[in-house]
Amino acid sequence: MNLTDRIVKLKKERKAVILAHNYQRPEIQDIADYVGDSIELSRKAMQETEAEIIVFAAVDFMAESAAILNPEKRVLLPALGARCPMAQMLTVDEIKRCKALYPDAPVVLYVNTLASAKAYCDICCTSANAVEVIKSLEADTILFGPDRNLAESVAEKTGKTLIPLPEWGFCPTHLLFQPEDVTVLKMQYPDAAVMVHPECSAEIRKVADFVGSTSKMCRYARECSAKTLIVGTEEGLLHRLRKENPEKQFIVAYEGAVCPNMKLTTLGRLYAALKEEKYAVKVPEPIAKKARIALERMFEITS
Ligand code: 13P
Ligand code: SF4
Repeated sequence: MNLTDRIVKLKKERKAVILAHNYQRPEIQDIADYVGDSIELSRKAMQETEAEIIVFAAVDFMAESAAILNPEKRVLLPALGARCPMAQMLTVDEIKRCKALYPDAPVVLYVNTLASAKAYCDICCTSANAVEVIKSLEADTILFGPDRNLAESVAEKTGKTLIPLPEWGFCPTHLLFQPEDVTVLKMQYPDAAVMVHPECSAEIRKVADFVGSTSKMCRYARECSAKTLIVGTEEGLLHRLRKENPEKQFIVAYEGAVCPNMKLTTLGRLYAALKEEKYAVKVPEPIAKKARIALERMFEITS
């Protein structure tokens, strides 16, 4: 029996479901029960009733959100080191410092944060619903973290003042895209559409036809008339894009745009995770309780 068959067999025996992010390795996406962006995966985890175990093929903060939203289930992260560096950039101390400077400003945190940080915010958002979440608030000045680029992009779309916390938060993978990459590809493929993630810099977002979350990019690719698309996000998304649109051509704007953390989940580690029920993700209840409120508020206002 090959590894894939063993995983499928073990998954049934353990009554497990595998949720995989759009950036996972092709073989992980192919074996998963569901592939999606961070809001879709959180919703799936929250609504899961059948399975006893949720294996989260992604990074730490996504698995933590699953454990917070569905505390009845055992949540496993197959690669212990799969940590999102952006989520590590925002500390509770920094949130407290900014709150003291702007006591009337609500705190909105991107889900790419640790549960301990979420416990100190008013509401969470993802790149798919950040504009909706910000518009839903009465305040015009809002503390927003940790991604400075997402803060800028949402401020442009809502006309509100978003104060970034920390001032410099970023995704190391999305920062790799340079405007020249797109300019050169546009010379080669003049009819191509350009779609990028909001974690990209302002220079990249400016030259894009579409800016959105990973799943919103999948929808744009399906619905737009362009036959060739230049993609400004982690290269793992191209597997799904090509699978769903075999008649279209997808080119990643910079081939080195790899999130090493997302790639830590391999078939071998997925098998070991199921076999040994590791690594269990647990969030202490006092923190989970507060973070859950912030996540649930997001779901209330997001269709
Ligand atoms: P999405 O919510 O768009 O899938 O993004 C998550 C992420 O980590 C982007 O780098
Ligand atoms: Fe974090 Fe960037 Fe990787 Fe997304 S792509 S998980 S934001 S490091």
